[in-house]
Amino acid sequence: MALSKMEGLEHDEGERLAVDYVEGILQPTPTCDTWVQIWNFQARPDDLLIATYPKAGTTWVQEIVDFIQSEGDADRCHRAPIHDRFPFIEWKIPFLESGLEQAEAMPSPRTLKTHLPIGLLPPSFLEKNCKIIYVARNPKDNMVSYYHFHRMNKALPAPGTWEEYFESFLAGKVCWGSWYDHVRGWWDAKDQHRILYLFYEDMKENPKREIQKLAEFIGKSLDDEILDKIIHHTSFDVMKQNPMANYSSVPAKFMNHSISPFMRKGTVGDWKNHFTVAQNERFDEDYGKRMADTTLTFHFQLKKSQIQPV
Ligand code: A3P
Repeated sequence: MALSKMEGLEHDEGERLAVDYVEGILQPTPTCDTWVQIWNFQARPDDLLIATYPKAGTTWVQEIVDFIQSEGDADRCHRAPIHDRFPFIEWKIPFLESGLEQAEAMPSPRTLKTHLPIGLLPPSFLEKNCKIIYVARNPKDNMVSYYHFHRMNKALPAPGTWEEYFESFLAGKVCWGSWYDHVRGWWDAKDQHRILYLFYEDMKENPKREIQKLAEFIGKSLDDEILDKIIHHTSFDVMKQNPMANYSSVPAKFMNHSISPFMRKGTVGDWKNHFTVAQNERFDEDYGKRMADTTLTFHFQLKKSQIQPV
């Protein structure tokens, strides 16, 4: 049963999924309990995988990829809610069709989603040389977005206060583990495999350029008219109103958009509205140490002049 078809299920308003560890990474317990099957997932050579740390812009890239594959055909992209269009391979909620079951039932070519760090990626994806799109987002905005997502999503543990969540995020004690290990692991792998590594901030700065990169990677050439259509349909404002992209099809007892909408702000720099001066200093010091030995860098704000109108 897909998530959008589960209205009838009993679910305690206050109940949240428990979490446990898989290879040192926190995951909801149903994922831990089915880990052997997830690890043994058999990718197909023509699978396309979208991999992200949670809240890095997964849904945005999924929608763009679907529009590219559909050559701008909005009716086709509106065929089903986003979570039914893209199997989320490690996702499992009791009594519902799992990501694995959804993937296995889907004809090729499939586009799949994962939040797994590269060390936990089922090996068949790299063995089959699948194309993988990875999206990273600066950790301050990523943290803020994840905090609000925990508040509204009953499938994740309660986040506690903002101060408590800040500590959990820094310690990597959140589902899917440390942001640092995630973005760095995929960055280090990108030159040995067919991985296109993108940044949320680049997509905000110049969606056209990033959509073109995606189209080239997927192997589609798009004329300007289609490109403009895709830019329009995948803009924040249009996606926010689109029930097939904004997760409003998930019952409120699982995702409560009145606590915080899934399509929340969609900006770069919202962290400034959350981080205290002391938190920011502490974050920067920690970030400086943990990112000192990598070529991977992030933008924490955009200059007004950099943002392309959509
Ligand atoms: P905010 O909470 O900062 O608003 P994911 O899909 O990985 O869960 O990421 C969700 C984040 O991406 C949310 O960030 C959401 O608003 C943002 N997002 C989704 N679609 C977007 C779009 N078209 N443009 C910009 N941001 C988008």
